Amino acid sequence: MDRLIIRGGKPLRGKVKISGAKNAALPSLVASILTSEPIHFSRVPNLRDVHTVCTLLSNLGVRVKNRGRGNYELESSQVQNYEAPYDLVKTMRASCLVMGPLLTRFGKAKVSYPGGCAIGERPINLHIKGFELMGAKVKLHRGYVVATAKNGLRGNSIYLDLPTVTGTQNLMMAATLAKGETIIENVAREPEVCSLARMLNDMGAKIAGAGTDVVTIQGVPKLHGTRCKIIPDRIETGTYMVAGAITGGDVEVVQCDPETVDSVVAKLRETGCKVQVRKSSIRVKGNAPLRSVDISTAPYPGFPTDMQAQIMALMTLSDGVSVINETVFENRFMHVAELNRMGATVHVQGSSATVKGVPKLSGAPLTATDLRASASLVLAALAADGESVVHRVYHLNRGYESLVDKLTALGADIERVSGPPV
Ligand code: UD1
Repeated sequence: MDRLIIRGGKPLRGKVKISGAKNAALPSLVASILTSEPIHFSRVPNLRDVHTVCTLLSNLGVRVKNRGRGNYELESSQVQNYEAPYDLVKTMRASCLVMGPLLTRFGKAKVSYPGGCAIGERPINLHIKGFELMGAKVKLHRGYVVATAKNGLRGNSIYLDLPTVTGTQNLMMAATLAKGETIIENVAREPEVCSLARMLNDMGAKIAGAGTDVVTIQGVPKLHGTRCKIIPDRIETGTYMVAGAITGGDVEVVQCDPETVDSVVAKLRETGCKVQVRKSSIRVKGNAPLRSVDISTAPYPGFPTDMQAQIMALMTLSDGVSVINETVFENRFMHVAELNRMGATVHVQGSSATVKGVPKLSGAPLTATDLRASASLVLAALAADGESVVHRVYHLNRGYESLVDKLTALGADIERVSGPPV
């Protein structure tokens, strides 16, 4: 199994280009199910989750052509299977996004019910409730959600108890081809919801309000092909910003969308780091001593839960005490035990972590548990004295394109090694 060997303590310097966003690419690729015409994608990141969604779509009968360098063409004129099987949903929960498009275009979908995962229970009850309100019959059969809508879906008013991101996307896609108007309240406002709405409107959908907490969709009989460029990854952006800060370096993150990381910029400024924001780049210069800041994760535009582990790595080296509240997922502190093994002093109680800054971390063997936890361990290792070995790096392949190359170009001493541990 691959592992990363990181010799820390080197300030990172230089520019790093941001890739297309994983969480925008996944729903956008899935949205190609909604039309029989081809859709051309660019800036699709080369990530394990993207390969998984392409496998899933191919299994459904979607023609997937990878034209290289992030360009894909997808065409769904021959869909003859309506199932997202257990094996794929197990490796990537976002597989459940096929449900809305399959149900609205073909009147049927069968999706393995996602189980809990490393960060929490993560049910999809709100997706299901929405489909039912749109007239679908939904039953659970041997671990699968089986949904049918023989006469198509009908628009309705839907209130989401929580602003679920993939739930909003799933229902929005379903509503594009439903009869009549759908109003979804308390929707997610994440940039990945807005980018999907833009793509759907380019395909002929009638969606208004994306980016606010109410989205209105007038159903149309048919959608057509389009071109879609995936937006920059705001979590990758934030992660490299923290890499500059935690190593006391000077990193310029380019080809990003600064507006989508306002909360991260604000928090890094509070720590005393110098952050310069331009139209499509952000430069972060580290500062010693780092001031401690309190963080509470929240749906967009709040501080992203997907950046909580990385900012905690930074706070382990602050000059005070930081309280980090995780309000989105119930079990997202898997990185804490590993950070503590490096000399950090983090204490978790319920959904709150108290981080008492220490002057130094020391390199150690580390085990990654999920995507963002892995990123936080890499960041901590980059700042730590001595060598760290990060195991189970396959998690990172899900969300960080060319991580080792990008960090090496910034001056990090990092290598990826295959095979059994020595
Ligand atoms: C998406 C992101 C993930 C990010 C998360 C929160 C993708 C592919 N993944 O995940 O990286 O961490 O948003 O920003 O875009 N919930 C329910 N019932 C539901 C749906 C959600 O109770 O039917 C709960 C979840 O358990 C969680 C909260 O709502 O506590 C938010 O989850 P949600 O926004 O749905 O996360 P995902 O869309 O799975």
